Amino acid sequence: MKNEILSSDELSTDNFEISLRPKYIKEYIGQREVKENIKVFIEAAKIRGEVLDHVLLYGPPGLGKTTLAYIIANELGSDIKTTTGPSIEKTGDLAAVLSSLEPGDVLFIDEIHRIPRFIEEILYSAMEDFCIDIVVGAEGSSRSIKIELPPFTLVGATTRAGDLSAPLRDRFGIVSKLNYYTEAELTEIIMRTSRVLNMDIEEKAAKELAKRSRKTPRIANRLFKRVRDFSQVEGKVIIDKEITKKSLERLKVDKYGLDQIDIEYLESLIKKFNGGPVGVETIASSIGEEVSTLEDIVEPYLMQEGFIKRTQRGRVVTDKAYEHIKDDGLI
Ligand SMILES: Nc1ncnc2c1ncn2[C@@H]1O[C@H](COP(=O)(O)OP(=O)(O)O)[C@@H](O)[C@H]1O
Ligand SMILES: [Mg+2]
Repeated sequence: MKNEILSSDELSTDNFEISLRPKYIKEYIGQREVKENIKVFIEAAKIRGEVLDHVLLYGPPGLGKTTLAYIIANELGSDIKTTTGPSIEKTGDLAAVLSSLEPGDVLFIDEIHRIPRFIEEILYSAMEDFCIDIVVGAEGSSRSIKIELPPFTLVGATTRAGDLSAPLRDRFGIVSKLNYYTEAELTEIIMRTSRVLNMDIEEKAAKELAKRSRKTPRIANRLFKRVRDFSQVEGKVIIDKEITKKSLERLKVDKYGLDQIDIEYLESLIKKFNGGPVGVETIASSIGEEVSTLEDIVEPYLMQEGFIKRTQRGRVVTDKAYEHIKDDGLI
């Protein structure tokens, strides 16, 4: 693994993350608009005694999609069943998940864009009419049977809303985009993490961490965990700014929160391709990373922060990137 903070297991979770997940909307920091809308929709569904409309959550990894899916189920007082797009390989896989649902359940499908198209179609009638048609029997004597489903709410999460087919996207009544967090919000998240994990942090240190967390709660929490390691080994009872800076240096996270992959990306674009334009595939092979890692994790942040731009002919770096790489003494 090349870089632990931005590793390819970015989409998966560990126990540490689960323990830090807020359980109710009021503990979920930031994303004000999304939260307020969802709160209204949940309340309205409860008043009517109906299930909540299907919800699609999209945005870069680590911004709180899975967390929000669980919160929705909690706030509804419903059970949640979960699966992921890549684990659904046959129509039977999806049919099995759907027929296990109880009335009012939330079904959470993570990475929903990765459900194969021919299976996706089963979801259409499941979402719209709460029933599915499946083909049973051997070839020649096969027939289609209709299975009624209880009313349920599908919550889909994806880093790539654009990869979803239009018919699927259209069947979500509620579509919410999660945005990058502000420094103030991330500071609040870090202060909360500090309370949950029972390790004090100075507010100044929390702010410094927030600044370098790529505007992403998952990264803020991971950095917190590592800085906690450095602090504890040095026998500190509170994480201060000095140890935070020192740890971040050791972790190779720079003042913009860019880490090794980001820097390699920019360096490659500048040094090997004269600043672009160049295709993402070419950059990926030049630095030995997956295209999907670059597209899902690296580029959205670099773009958001104005280090690169996407043009029709490929990626180009901006003056800000040149300045930054130059400041680092890399060119
Ligand atoms: N709004 C938030 N408030 C507090 N913590 C959050 C928030 N969003 C995410 N987190 C933290 O970040 C971690 C990653 O969030 P997650 O829901 O797994 O992201 P995603 O599913 O979008 O990749 C969670 O474990 C949670 O602790
Ligand atoms: Mg997730």
